[in-house]
Amino acid sequence: MAKLSEERINEIRSHSDIVEVISKYVPLTRKGKNYVCNCPFHDDHDPSLSISQEKQIFKCFACGAGGNVFTFVSRYENISFAESVLEVAKISQIDVSDIDETKRVENTRLVPYYKANQAFIDYTHYILLTPDYFSIKDYLHQRGISDSVIKHFEIGYNPSDDALYHYLKAKKFSDEELIKNNLIRLTADGIHDVFANRITIPIHDKMGNPIGFTARRIKDGDEAKYINTTETECYVKGQIIFNYHRAVAASKKTKRVLLVEGAMDVIGLYKAGIEDAVATLGTACTRNQLDLLKRMHVKIDVFYDGDSAGTNAIYKFGKMASEAGLDFDVVANHYGLDPDEIYEKYGKDELEALTHRTVSWIDFCFEYLQKKYRMENYADRVEFAKMMKVEIEREKEDFLKESYFRKLYELTQFDMSQFKTEIKNSYSKIHTTLFRYGDKCEYEILGQMLLSKQAVNVFKNELGFLTSSVCNQLALYLINEYRTKDEINVADLLNQIKEEDVKDLLLDLSEWELAPVKMDLQVFQDAIFKIKVKCQNAKIKELSDLAKKMTNPLDKAKLMNEIIELKRKL
Ligand code: UTP
Ligand code: MN
Repeated sequence: MAKLSEERINEIRSHSDIVEVISKYVPLTRKGKNYVCNCPFHDDHDPSLSISQEKQIFKCFACGAGGNVFTFVSRYENISFAESVLEVAKISQIDVSDIDETKRVENTRLVPYYKANQAFIDYTHYILLTPDYFSIKDYLHQRGISDSVIKHFEIGYNPSDDALYHYLKAKKFSDEELIKNNLIRLTADGIHDVFANRITIPIHDKMGNPIGFTARRIKDGDEAKYINTTETECYVKGQIIFNYHRAVAASKKTKRVLLVEGAMDVIGLYKAGIEDAVATLGTACTRNQLDLLKRMHVKIDVFYDGDSAGTNAIYKFGKMASEAGLDFDVVANHYGLDPDEIYEKYGKDELEALTHRTVSWIDFCFEYLQKKYRMENYADRVEFAKMMKVEIEREKEDFLKESYFRKLYELTQFDMSQFKTEIKNSYSKIHTTLFRYGDKCEYEILGQMLLSKQAVNVFKNELGFLTSSVCNQLALYLINEYRTKDEINVADLLNQIKEEDVKDLLLDLSEWELAPVKMDLQVFQDAIFKIKVKCQNAKIKELSDLAKKMTNPLDKAKLMNEIIELKRKL
């Protein structure tokens, strides 16, 4: 089995084009020799990320993110380096079927679960379409769920006679396996189906593997309305987002994702032709789920029930999401109904229009918290102002921040705006990046070493080290790279370097406006000389300081001689 060797990685990198790959994720504009775009790694309004097609690297001048095509994809998709190599290969249509297998090894443990779940899906879906269970299908039809919607979501019915268990047994799945997968369970009177007499809706992971189910009772009664797969090896609570694998593609087009509470809401929206919805399945959102949502790189519109439980849930979600820095608004749902009910009662057009009627998270808080606090009570009003201040300060747009503080002042008479923190700071970094890892001489030397093997040889003979440790580390990488190569390819070298600051230095050098364009021996040796002088001077200062402290005249004289000798050499 082939592994991801260094050669193979470099081959994939050189057969791909960073401009083509990045343009799959964000729109690019040409600017001179380079391309620019809004940086997806920080909240960017002016394009500050620049991509060099010639060097096959990118760099953001505002937040400092940078690297080669793999760095971009792994950061954007939040995946490992190895996964990013395969992703780049896929985008660039490079055949990696030989390595693909080994890559998936880490998940083979879960394959039996996927297989059992798929068998479960096939059977329950088939059963639902047989005449015996027409009444179940009729229930779905009553809810406006047509045959094509049933098919799209692979909805099924798990009969109550344990036929499913016998089917899976016949398919050679063992009891132990099925129990572990939470499809059957051991009870006092034998083994029974977990989802007996329920409508089943499959749940998939982000790759589209079937990992579990949410299942609804048919008739109102004492039983829970929905039961979900309990925790299994592949169904990990708090990490699941229903319909994620389907919504990803739709969201790329609509530039938003609708976050709803239940699977039936996702289905309700789908009935209205809206495909960019996902659900957290009624549970409070976890950090893990927030990370998944963040990975979609689109704005989130929270679309929960308009009732009080729904608005409480929005507030709970919003507190977490705003702290985690997610970009989200809230659908102004004043119907007191969930998305599915709105579809049933008001129809497709109204539901569609409603998804676009949004308010900002902060405006939601204004409305929500005003109802929680008695605004005529002084202590309550102070508390309200404090709560609002926390949220307003997170707003990144200055003009919005200002207007929210004004609104807060009008409501409470408290002017909280004077406490606003400086947010401009991060941008001043842009101009201080020059020589942040060493001095100009060291940059000159490294710049030439990047260009020529001859420079490396001169460096090895005449100096052999650099005073800044980051520069020195990079010099060692370059010497090592030239052992087997005649030219340095920055985009490939980035893969070899482990240390973030050394990578950063390499990117700085590659983007450095004054970087040497060819080897110039005179300039190179001048720079080496200056570094030698700098080191000598440091040594002289050190010895002089030592001499001052000495009391023995003989030792002192010896040291002074040494100093004179050093000065003479200069
Ligand atoms: P709802 O009671 O609002 O259900 O619960 P719903 O989504 O509108 O479903 P329908 O339209 O009646 O079929 C919201 C979510 O809470 C979870 C489910 O994920 C549900 O979608 N829930 C609810 C449970 O997990 N168990 C329950 O017993 C009830
Ligand atoms: Mn509902």
